[in-house]
Amino acid sequence: MTRTDNDTWDLASSVGATATLVAAARAAASREADPLIDDPFAEPLVRAVGVEFFTRLASGALPTPDDQAAMGVSRMIDSMAVRTKFFDEFFLAGAAGPATSGAGAAGPATSGAGAAGPGVRQAVILASGLDARAYRLDWPDGMVVFEIDQPEVIAFKTETLAGYGAAPGCERRAVAVDLRDDWAGALRAAGFDPQAPTAWSAEGLLGYLPPEAQDRLLDAITELSAPGSRVAIDCVPRSSQEKQDESRKRMEATAEHWRDQGLDLNFGDLVYLGDRNEPGAYLSSHGWQVGSASINELLSAGGRATFDEDEPMNQLYYISASYGGAR
Ligand SMILES: C[S@@+](CC[C@H](N)C(=O)[O-])C[C@H]1O[C@@H](n2cnc3c(N)ncnc32)[C@H](O)[C@@H]1O
Repeated sequence: MTRTDNDTWDLASSVGATATLVAAARAAASREADPLIDDPFAEPLVRAVGVEFFTRLASGALPTPDDQAAMGVSRMIDSMAVRTKFFDEFFLAGAAGPATSGAGAAGPATSGAGAAGPGVRQAVILASGLDARAYRLDWPDGMVVFEIDQPEVIAFKTETLAGYGAAPGCERRAVAVDLRDDWAGALRAAGFDPQAPTAWSAEGLLGYLPPEAQDRLLDAITELSAPGSRVAIDCVPRSSQEKQDESRKRMEATAEHWRDQGLDLNFGDLVYLGDRNEPGAYLSSHGWQVGSASINELLSAGGRATFDEDEPMNQLYYISASYGGAR
């Protein structure tokens, strides 16, 4: 299934299924012996979606170790564990208060220690998928968390968690809109305050946006950010055409193994490969102070084995940036 300009999805199809996949990996990461994360909502949400492959992944009923290796399962679980931890810490550090030391970037490596004064009380989770941070993080009083995703994704999570009796630990405001459309207008209409500093996240999102939509997204974030705002994003490095072709082939090979296990989903058809602006450099040129950590740094910090850096998909990196107000 290839992408089109106005395509839509639920959590079992197209880009929506990627939200279920990463939630399944979070569930699996949460059940490890020495877990880096604890997401008790991931497994029930994945079960509720009802795609057997994802349910098996979430509940630990995985195939043989050889199959797992071929499907990239343990790599996916480790990378989702460190990614989730990175974004959790980003939000908690933002809510705790501005960093007084470090390189100026807002993020786990430089903030937290030395926090002073009140932190942000407004967060926006772009492409929230089955992310349950609004429900599971220990938010301070007065915290408002906006979640943006496509209508069917938003409705499913809201209704499913309400059905389980789960209540957000903050004021959660769900905004059902496509991030290629006027999402900033929808966010404002939902009560977003552009005068208040904001913690933004774009986790597992950029590759699913065309390059121009990515630029528009970063422009809108900058436009809506008061001084003291922060943003965290996971990024795939730019790579040569040859490396991109290799990546596409690997994704196809992985998809074939998944098909054998009953899942018909090829990431290569869902992401927009090709040239795009590097998000950190783009934000830097728009007045943000940017810091970054590679996935291998996060894996090492979490006591997990590092990945082979030859493969572009293993060169993921995570940026956190803070905004002083000078565009
Ligand atoms: C890989 S999932 C990540 C979900 C979540 N951030 C997480 O890490 O669990 C990608 C998410 O991006 C959302 N998404 C991608 N393109 C979008 C668009 N144009 N508008 C709204 N949501 C979009 C999908 O619906 C999906 O929930």
